[in-house]
Amino acid sequence: MSMAVRYVVQDELALITVDNPPVNALGHAVRSGLLQAISDAEGDPAVRAIVLTCAGRTFMAGADIKEFGLPPQEPSLPVVVQRIEDCSKPSVAVLHGTALGGGLEVALSCHYRIARQDAQIGLPEVKIGLLPGAGGTQRVPRLAGVAKALEMIVSGAPIGAPDALAHGLIDELCEGDLQQAGINFARRLLKDGRGVRRSGEQTAALAQGDNAALIQAKRAEVHTRSPGLFSPPRCIDAVEAATQLPLAQGLVRERELFQQCLESPQRAALIHAFFAERQAAKVNGLAADTPTRNIEQAAVIGGGTMGVGIALCFANVGIPVKLLEVDGQALDRALQRARDTYASSVKRGSLSQAGMDQRLALLSGTTQYSDLAQVDVVIEAVFEELGVKRQVFEQLDKVCKPGAILASNTSTLDLNAIAAFTGRPEDVVGLHFFSPANVMRLLEVVRGQQTSDTVLASAMALGKRLKKISVVVGVCDGFVGNRMLFQYGRESECLLEEGARPEQVDGALQGFGMAMGPLAVRDLSGLDIGLAIRNRKRPTLAPEYALPNLLDQLCAAGMLGQKTGAGFYRYEAGSRTPLPNPALLELLPQGATAPSTEQILERTLYALINEGAKILQEGIAQRASDIDVIYLNGYGFPAFRGGPMFYADQVGLATVLAKVREFHQRLGAWWQPAPLLEQLAAQGRTFSEWETGDMNNNKDKP
Ligand code: 3HC
Ligand code: NAI
Repeated sequence: MSMAVRYVVQDELALITVDNPPVNALGHAVRSGLLQAISDAEGDPAVRAIVLTCAGRTFMAGADIKEFGLPPQEPSLPVVVQRIEDCSKPSVAVLHGTALGGGLEVALSCHYRIARQDAQIGLPEVKIGLLPGAGGTQRVPRLAGVAKALEMIVSGAPIGAPDALAHGLIDELCEGDLQQAGINFARRLLKDGRGVRRSGEQTAALAQGDNAALIQAKRAEVHTRSPGLFSPPRCIDAVEAATQLPLAQGLVRERELFQQCLESPQRAALIHAFFAERQAAKVNGLAADTPTRNIEQAAVIGGGTMGVGIALCFANVGIPVKLLEVDGQALDRALQRARDTYASSVKRGSLSQAGMDQRLALLSGTTQYSDLAQVDVVIEAVFEELGVKRQVFEQLDKVCKPGAILASNTSTLDLNAIAAFTGRPEDVVGLHFFSPANVMRLLEVVRGQQTSDTVLASAMALGKRLKKISVVVGVCDGFVGNRMLFQYGRESECLLEEGARPEQVDGALQGFGMAMGPLAVRDLSGLDIGLAIRNRKRPTLAPEYALPNLLDQLCAAGMLGQKTGAGFYRYEAGSRTPLPNPALLELLPQGATAPSTEQILERTLYALINEGAKILQEGIAQRASDIDVIYLNGYGFPAFRGGPMFYADQVGLATVLAKVREFHQRLGAWWQPAPLLEQLAAQGRTFSEWETGDMNNNKDKP
């Protein structure tokens, strides 16, 4: 028996325990161990029933994702699952934690299932570009009906154990010791004379609804909601097969569709995104056991757009938070905005009134710095002016207790300069939230020159507590996300000046999968904000770094984007639908040949990538996949493309470089190829292969 699967026989029961930390993924050792255990139980006359449990924090959370794309190793999961279902002795699986994907498929192949009340049960394969490939698409509709199967398989979202019970996916809820619960259930089975009951042979649920109509409606939904995605339509095809074919043939069809997904580039990109997100939590050079500071109370300085959103983040996870504003009036406005935000969630039904009351009770306001003496962390979100930041940080330095973490939400200013306003720069860190801060999951954690390891580790832990995806970045203008965005935005405006229309530029990028086109985004955030950033940058630029003038012209004409009803597009009163803006068209060249979709994509995406390579080389990002995480979670980059750096690797760095060089010749200095891009392209390597050591060592690497 493999180390990952334990097997003992006790009083007529075979007790099988999977023990493969951290999440009992069904890697090769688990699959072969399970197969062996079932064969042993089958062959042992002393065994009358089988109990399957998992050690540690969870039931099997799925196939081992790391194995996808590698040569398959026997036994495959479908073989194991079939063997369990075919066994002539009744089996019971005891679920806890997250029984997901292949883990749930193993459970479904057992003849009975019981689960802890708080267990989560699901088939999340679609989220990594796959579909359940070990019978999930055939057995779930047979047990729970087509509607529930489509809901679970196409969304990938888990359901709670009570819901699973209501839909016939499990037989009972249990509590206490898992194995004992399984033993008790198995004994009852034997006492009642209940034998094997194969999920694959159940048919009642399949006859429950109008399956053809359900399938058609789901196809239409997927077509509009996620037109670019490869696996969701195949998930539906597989469920449809369950309604049309006997189990054995349905399983063959499922396997074919699974294989198509496995070979799709989207699968590789989505799995890259899965691991990239987990990798981002690891900070090079920071020991995993670095102590962190206790955070029980927080404060936010500035109750504007960002400050209120940040305060809500704390209240949402149960951390008391004080909001400090300049005067009573500004404070009232800020607190009212917080109340309004919660009230609209209650109205939409995403928050209960009790939930709102609980959260608001954690939020208090003040205009006095002395009230912040005991807080553990402060996040400053005042105007983006160094002078104002100075006043705030000097005050904080005076009043905050030793050991308090002093954070800034600045998006462009020098964090090291801000840290120097205090006598404790080691306690200063950047926490760059994205707007709306209570909704967006990305958090850039800015490591200043003097930020201590403890403060950095505490900031990462805080990000996790706030349910954010935190990525460590170094200090530079715009950090990672906005620094790259500057190039992307600049190029998209250059394209307009060369003859493209806004809808062509945005259409090309939306067709690529971006949540919004760059020009529509600019209209949403306000052209004056973009212009302010650009104007701050202009004096620092050498003459060969010219910037397009469209923003200046639009702002001068009072067209600031959605808030004024016009910008790159025109908007009817109360509408967010972009319409052509005739006033903009007058500013654009007439009769020029518009660039093709391919040219638009190359210009905008390669501008992102070239800047990303510079950021990587400078050690501003620890690794290429961190840049991907930032773009996937903060900038609407499509997950099925894996992020800009992964996309570049897929295109091939030599191809990207050839274009960057061509643009450099034709369009000038902004397109100076990143030395790292040149180096890796020459070596035939990828950004992903350029794994870093310590951030600071990166500088010497290329
Ligand atoms: N395979 C391999 N490694 C996995 C894994 C899996 N299925 N699931 C999680 N891990 C690893 C993570 O990479 C991470 O490793 P690290 O510590 O080295 O970074 C570790 O387990 C812990 O994971 P999380 O940090 O995500 O822990 P959480 O407690 O936050 O979440 C979880 C646990 C809910 C299980 C989450 O990890 C998850 O959603 N995992 C993926 C589940 C999934 O997609 N299953 C389906 C797989 S495909 C399949 O089964 C195909 C089949 O139908 C044939
Ligand atoms: P805002 O203008 O909406 O809010 C700033 C608030 O700070 C105002 O309510 C103002 O009264 C208050 N304030 C000013 N001086 C103060 C002081 N000395 N003490 C206490 N309060 C003071 O600005 P916004 O957009 O919320 O930005 C705040 C910070 O967050 C800036 O540094 C900005 O660069 C950054 N940021 C903004 C993002 C955005 O999308 N708006 C995104 C990420 C970061």
